[in-house]
Amino acid sequence: MGHGGDWASLDPSTRSQQDLLDLSSSISPYGPGPKARALWPGLVDRLHRYPDWRKQELTEALANHLGIAANSILITAGAMEAIDLTLRTFRPQHAWVEVPAFSEYALRASVYGIDVRTWHHPSQPGPESGLWFLANPANPTGRVLTARECGQYQKRAMDSHNILVIDEAFIEFVDGWREWSSVREAAQSEYLVVMGSLTKYYGLAGLRVGFLVTHPGTIRKIAAHTIPWHVSLVAQEMAVASLKDQDYFDWTRIQLKQERARLKRMLESFGQVDEASQVNYLLFFPYCSVDELIKGLQKQGILVRDARNFKGIETPGVRIAVKKPKDSTRLVRALKNICPP
Ligand SMILES: Cc1ncc(COP(=O)(O)O)c(C=O)c1O
Repeated sequence: MGHGGDWASLDPSTRSQQDLLDLSSSISPYGPGPKARALWPGLVDRLHRYPDWRKQELTEALANHLGIAANSILITAGAMEAIDLTLRTFRPQHAWVEVPAFSEYALRASVYGIDVRTWHHPSQPGPESGLWFLANPANPTGRVLTARECGQYQKRAMDSHNILVIDEAFIEFVDGWREWSSVREAAQSEYLVVMGSLTKYYGLAGLRVGFLVTHPGTIRKIAAHTIPWHVSLVAQEMAVASLKDQDYFDWTRIQLKQERARLKRMLESFGQVDEASQVNYLLFFPYCSVDELIKGLQKQGILVRDARNFKGIETPGVRIAVKKPKDSTRLVRALKNICPP
């Protein structure tokens, strides 16, 4: 599996380490928030119930949070299901992916027999006919697209009658994220689909909650491909409680921003850090061998994401999640032995 967070594939001795530090998947170390935690023990008594198949309360809570109409939102089992449903519904001849990128756009497209093409901004010309995938912020660089760049892609997609998909799975980690998000435009457009996730910023990766936003007519078409009860009762309830905890999550955003700056400074003794990130991960190019670094860290119970299989990244590197200060300190202590400055 070419993803971070694959702790289950580790050999049992590493996996069972109490203090396994997973910096390979970029999930907030602070979530779930206090409201979701308070709800948790009582959920067991409600497991005999089916979830609300319409996901009404969560859709309303999200509409409120994003400042858009509820009928332009479809709740999904993670952004991953949003990617899959979009491809399944539109079935374009070609899927265009801006690289480097999350591998699943291409992998899911291949499952449906869709031809995948890539482009690298700005060195290669942009996409042509088909469904276009962009991530804002980008993975693994953490670069945020300006409103102007997004607007240009949106205009091009609309003028050429292609569908632009913007994956905003990490956008809430960005300071002033509402300014960079395209959800308001997507809610009214037949040519723009925005995907979001509650797994990263709200720390709910194990529950699988995400969403997509587009024109209500398109939402109905995409929703027709979902199976009933695809988002569990527990996932819906925990997501609603999390969305109501915004003061707490605003605090986590500040913590992670400060820690990103601190971790970046510390990593610079061991290699080069890509400057672009405005989120909770850093793309790091060590001065030592990436193989040695990954293996050495793993021996000490620390996982980082090998970034060598991201198409479009020429220098060998790793992606490292920003977690709590004690976690960065532990990482740097381990690096001193493996990759001395
Ligand atoms: C850019 C990007 N989009 C979407 C996803 C999938 O998110 P989710 O956990 O909500 O399915 C990931 C997971 O790593 C990702 O990196």
